[in-house]
Amino acid sequence: MDYYSQLKKLQPNFKVIIPFKDYVAELVRELGLHSIEIIIKTDSIILVNGMDQFTPIWAQDVWSDCIGTEINSINQGIEILKKYKNIGSYYPLVKNNFGELISQKVKNIPLKRIKFQPNHPFDFKFTAWTILDSFLITSEKTLKRFPFGWHEFEEDKNSPPSRAYLKLWETFTIYGVNIEKSDTVIEVGSSPGGWTWVLSGLANKVYSIDRAPLSDKIGKIENIYHQDGDAFKLNPKNYPDVTWFFSDIICTPEKIYETIQFWLNNSPVRKFVCTIKFKGDCNFDILKQFLAIENSTIIHLYHNKNEVTWIKYA
Ligand SMILES: C[S@@+](CC[C@H](N)C(=O)[O-])C[C@H]1O[C@@H](n2cnc3c(N)ncnc32)[C@H](O)[C@@H]1O
Repeated sequence: MDYYSQLKKLQPNFKVIIPFKDYVAELVRELGLHSIEIIIKTDSIILVNGMDQFTPIWAQDVWSDCIGTEINSINQGIEILKKYKNIGSYYPLVKNNFGELISQKVKNIPLKRIKFQPNHPFDFKFTAWTILDSFLITSEKTLKRFPFGWHEFEEDKNSPPSRAYLKLWETFTIYGVNIEKSDTVIEVGSSPGGWTWVLSGLANKVYSIDRAPLSDKIGKIENIYHQDGDAFKLNPKNYPDVTWFFSDIICTPEKIYETIQFWLNNSPVRKFVCTIKFKGDCNFDILKQFLAIENSTIIHLYHNKNEVTWIKYA
């Protein structure tokens, strides 16, 4: 497809959005709700004008202060990229040999799986770039600190009983959620135990609540206290030592919102990580209610499916 005429409509400091491949439609809906003008949309890149005051939840990455330069040769592209102080990070767009040829002649950081490390230091800077049609697009200001928000981890394929553990690994490594060795945490809807397994390695004590049992793999870990029960009928007064509340429970957004409000009103717990799950379309109205809770944010994690993660830091 020829994007040349649309590329000419880009205003200075336009933005590049990298969508999650399975949630392009949700991102487009979110942009529409905020009246953001989409100039180009493919399954792997969206270019917009404006969007200064708003960061879409359903974006895998956003590049700001973008510069688009029409180039006539591979050498011209190489010259431009060589002028940047920081190493490049090439985002390949399908069937784009021009980009491939330039990328072979300049230094780029290779995509590397991330090691799980709470509060990863992120000490590298890079220039994100891609080629669309005959335009070289560059940005030194990306929302995600790992290129393209590609949050693949060096996985542990043996210990955790479910792959849900990757959501917490991502939360702790990338988004500054900090569990201290002195914390006591509660997880509701915890079976088979992927999250509980992660939490048991970081906190002093983990209350794990589900109507279903934990996997035998983690049943014997000493600081896990599993209770068989209905997570929506708990009395917070029975958990006076809890400092963090975690939920990956399968329920409607309304039900988890109500549960969070109940804990906020009936316990001293102020730190939460909760998955908000959708059947069908994302309910943006209820997300506004979650965001109205102070010190909180909503992220669509790389490891989230049709769900988002609400984090309250304090
Ligand atoms: C997506 S799974 C949780 C996966 C888990 N976080 C992990 O890492 O392995 C959701 C869990 O919610 C539990 N659940 C749903 N409704 C519940 C309720 N009312 N009380 C307790 N658990 C419930 C289900 O039994 C199920 O195990």
